[in-house]
Amino acid sequence: MTITVCAGSSCSHRGSQKVVEYLVNYISTNSLQEKWKLKASFCMKDCGEHFCVQIDDYRLKFLPNSDYRKFFKELHKTNELPNIAGITWRRQDAK
Ligand code: FES
Repeated sequence: MTITVCAGSSCSHRGSQKVVEYLVNYISTNSLQEKWKLKASFCMKDCGEHFCVQIDDYRLKFLPNSDYRKFFKELHKTNELPNIAGITWRRQDAK
């Protein structure tokens, strides 16, 4: 699974940098280096009230106060995108 976090200025301002720091630690603590590849991206051209994360084919939008820790713990546990308030996603090729 490839997790790409937007490091553009809008997303960084809304919390994407905190997610990167959290994921670096989470991946290390849980020895997920072979399963979760973490990347950073320039602006994903999807700026808004959220910050953006791409997980494989899915574009996710996290509101700044959403519980990203719970999201990634659930993702780890179930290997599926969980439903967490303030976090939406869609397939990148969906219209
Ligand atoms: S800065 Fe993240 S989508 Fe633009």
